[in-house]
Amino acid sequence: MPPPTPVPMRQGAHPTAIRALHWAVAAAVLAEFGLALARMAAESTSLRHTLLAFHQPLGLLIGAATLLRAGVRLRLGLAQWQEPVPRAVGWASAAVHGLSYVLLLSLPVLGLALANAHGHAVTLPGLGALPALLPADADLADTLEEWHGRLAWLLAALIGLHVAAAGWHQWVRRDGLLDAMWHRGPSRIPLS
Ligand code: HEM
Ligand code: HEM
Repeated sequence: MPPPTPVPMRQGAHPTAIRALHWAVAAAVLAEFGLALARMAAESTSLRHTLLAFHQPLGLLIGAATLLRAGVRLRLGLAQWQEPVPRAVGWASAAVHGLSYVLLLSLPVLGLALANAHGHAVTLPGLGALPALLPADADLADTLEEWHGRLAWLLAALIGLHVAAAGWHQWVRRDGLLDAMWHRGPSRIPLS
């Protein structure tokens, strides 16, 4: 039988700060979608207000954590691969991850602008109302609302793709990619 094809593995786990921020932001993003979906399903106006009152500060927190995360990521980098990964895999993952960063930063700004265009101030617990980015403007509010929705569902689709890719790496390609983002470095000895 021919020897198994070598599979490049991550060298150890990613830095702790990167792993912690990845999973904290992932949990917050899932909660953010949960709040938006619950609001869409809710019939009572007061419940819709309450859900939005959680959606807004959580969204801003996601934006702030993403900024911090981009800084930490640029400073610390990810664990290296033992050998170069195929170029197409590298590009696909850079495209999905890069676009996720862009969406995680632009959605909060769009959300804030859309709330202001509706004439609503956004309040942060303990800090009071944030200054408005825009004056109230109903037409602009409609456009921003449309784009906030479109980009949010694009982010959801990317997350689906991302999770499928993580599963493919971990259980089909068996290169320890998820292990490196979880709590330890790849646990298997690479095939060679
Ligand atoms: C739900 C929201 C999620 C978001 C917004 C998200 C976003 C990201 C981003 C932007 C990166 C790139 C890291 C970097 O280069 O700085 C990344 C990496 C990664 N994510 Fe997620 N992620 C999410 C959920 C998940 C889930 C549920 C899994 C596992 C099933 C997962 C597994 C991974 C893995 C394994 C990596 C490392 C990829 C590599 O080694 O190149 N992510 N994620
Ligand atoms: C990563 C951050 C965010 C995500 C993933 C997100 C996601 C969503 C989603 C999925 C919806 C429902 C869209 C639809 O109706 O189809 C929504 C609605 C909304 N979001 Fe966000 N959001 C984020 C941040 C924010 C922020 C920071 C604010 C305000 C400060 C905000 C304000 C709103 C408002 C006002 C609506 C309701 C629009 C309407 O009346 O239909 N969002 N968001």
